Order: sequence, then structure tokens, then C-alpha cells
Amino acid sequence: MNRSALSHSAYVFDAYGTLFDVHAAVRKFAGEIGPDGQQLSEIWRAKQLEYSWVRTLMGAYQDFWALTEQALDYAFEKVPTADKSLRAKLLDAYWKLDCYEEVPRILRAIKSDGARVAILSNGSPAMLEAAVRSAALEPFIDEIFSVDGIRRFKTDPGVYDLVTTSWRLYPANISFQSSNRWDIAGATKFGFRTVWVNRSGQPDEYPDLKPALILPSLDGLVTAS
Ligand code: LAC
Repeated sequence: MNRSALSHSAYVFDAYGTLFDVHAAVRKFAGEIGPDGQQLSEIWRAKQLEYSWVRTLMGAYQDFWALTEQALDYAFEKVPTADKSLRAKLLDAYWKLDCYEEVPRILRAIKSDGARVAILSNGSPAMLEAAVRSAALEPFIDEIFSVDGIRRFKTDPGVYDLVTTSWRLYPANISFQSSNRWDIAGATKFGFRTVWVNRSGQPDEYPDLKPALILPSLDGLVTAS
């Protein structure tokens, strides 16, 4: 691939849902968890995110790992068929989530084309480092930006500003990829060029804050960018 294939010199990726499959933890124990595993996983994720927004609005930060634990406990209460004895195993699996199959290939292609690559995530630094190591993505990632340093979660503009301040780039020079449409809204508002990775075919929302590009997976990023 030659340099001209990429439109931007810096590519920043959301972590959970974009690089790492948040439903991989429950899927790993699908046989043991009972009939409502998918519901458990969806409530776990929804509550984790709700806690991040509410705590940022209140100014009552707790790190993403604490929210992940609290969200799983809530999900277990809501889904009584799920076997609570799997709590420790599910939490442990969250540190080694599968990445989506195209991720190493795409990150390698961007990196070898000379662009800078980073993660920008709500995750705590320890969670993110563990996930990156477990998926063997270290060679392709220049920097991991965690919200933990500013104690506010996405979509606070201060989160997106972590990248522009550190890399001394204008927002429009950064291509930001996320599968979370609300994260794309926040990043678009901040001024990033945004790519919504709509992995599960969700309807569009936030009509005033549209992504520059919508892709079904990261695969189109290199050619479409
Ligand atoms: C993250 C959340 C949005 O990785 O999943 O920041």
C-alpha cells in the first residue's frame, strides 16, 4: 500500500466495541451461563455506559473498571437465570477480550503507511494495556489515551482534547473511528473527522452530528479513507 492511500496522518480508535468485542466475555461462557446470556451481556454494557455518563454529569468519577463491576452486578440482578458464580470469570475475561478479526490487519496497514495510531477510551490504563497485550496489538499502537487522567468520560470534550493537546494537531487532522454512535457524535462535535463503524447495523441518530464515513467494519478504512 502506498502513502497516498490514507487521507489522514493520525488515526485514533475507540476501544470497547470498536477494537475489542465487549460481548466476547459472556460468549466465552455461553454454555454455562444459562439461556439469557445475550440479555445479560447487553444489560452489562448498557449500564456500564449509563454509569459513565451519569457520573461525568455529577462530577462523581469512579474508574471504568469499578463501573464495569457494578454494571455486571446489576445485570446479574436483572437476569436471575444467569449463574452468578461466573462473576469472577466474566470479569477476568474482560481483561482479555477478543479483538475483531480485521483489527490487526487494518492497524498494521495504517502503521506501515506511516500514520500515527492511538486508542482513546473510557477504559482505565490497566484495562487497556491488558486488552492490547492480550490481542497482541502493541506493535501497531503508538499511544493509549485513557480518560482516567482527567476523571471525566466521553463525551466530555476534554476527553477528545487529550489527543489534540498531546499530539499538537488540529482536530480535523485526526481520523477518529468508533462503533459507538454517541461517541461519534461527541468526536464530531469536537471537530475530529469521524468514521462510524456500524458493526451491528444500527439506525443512525444524532442528525446534527454526522460521521464523515460509515463502514460496516474497519476493513473499508484503508481503501475508503
Ligand atoms: C470506550 C467505550 C466507549 O472504549 O467503549 O471508550
